[in-house]
Amino acid sequence: MSELMIEAEGLVKRYGDAEAVAGVSLAVPAGTVLGVLGPNGAGKTTTVRMLTTLTAPDAGWARVAGHDVVRETGAVRAKIGVTAQDATVDVLLTGRQNLTMIGRLSGLRRTDARRLAAALLDRFGLADAADRVVKAYSGGMRRRLDLAAGLVIRPPVLFLDEPTTGLDPASRVRMWSVIRELVADGATVLLTTQYLDEADELADRIVVVDHGRVIAAGTAAELRPGPAVPGSR
Ligand SMILES: Nc1ncnc2c1ncn2[C@@H]1O[C@H](COP(=O)(O)OP(=O)(O)O)[C@@H](O)[C@H]1O
Ligand SMILES: [Mg+2]
Repeated sequence: MSELMIEAEGLVKRYGDAEAVAGVSLAVPAGTVLGVLGPNGAGKTTTVRMLTTLTAPDAGWARVAGHDVVRETGAVRAKIGVTAQDATVDVLLTGRQNLTMIGRLSGLRRTDARRLAAALLDRFGLADAADRVVKAYSGGMRRRLDLAAGLVIRPPVLFLDEPTTGLDPASRVRMWSVIRELVADGATVLLTTQYLDEADELADRIVVVDHGRVIAAGTAAELRPGPAVPGSR
């Protein structure tokens, strides 16, 4: 049996009387992709925020890379990369300046930070735009830079919150290939999405969430409404 990189049991998060997340359990084996599929307001971002130590659960527990998300926040943070729905980069800096700064802040020497920034910009198809301010980037370029920013420290576990929402079809396909590369490199990924086709494309397993609960789980093939089998009913 392979090691679980993300594990959660009965996660609950309340805002006032409302349960944004009402008892979510999930398990993601190392090197695999879990798709968390659900409509707006389903509780996807809140679940990601608990798993990434940004907000504490009101009930339940979770471990990431073997560390408890409440009691070992530092150890969890050292193992994860997060791309939020709202961008985390500074739009007044260039792509290269953003990535170099993140590298410096995470303790790299200047030359190493520069080299890594150049490599990431290249890998994410941003080499030509490296020295433009992020404000001038298209939506797809912004998302790719966000993802690159989350990879400066090469974390083994990645949380991607709706990485393609709002992107045009070409940028979406480009983002998919970037995510596939990260998985090929051995990353474990939890990806949220509103689109079954995206989960189908990228995820090994899918949990469907709605109103803060897991309402179905399985592979894309298991979750797709099957073709009517003649004579089956
Ligand atoms: N900080 C907050 N305060 C109050 N309600 C919140 C907060 N964050 C999320 N919610 C509510 O929790 C529910 C789940 O939200 P969210 O996790 O953002 O869903 P999703 O990411 O699937 O769209 C929604 O009803 C949302 O309005
Ligand atoms: Mg969300």
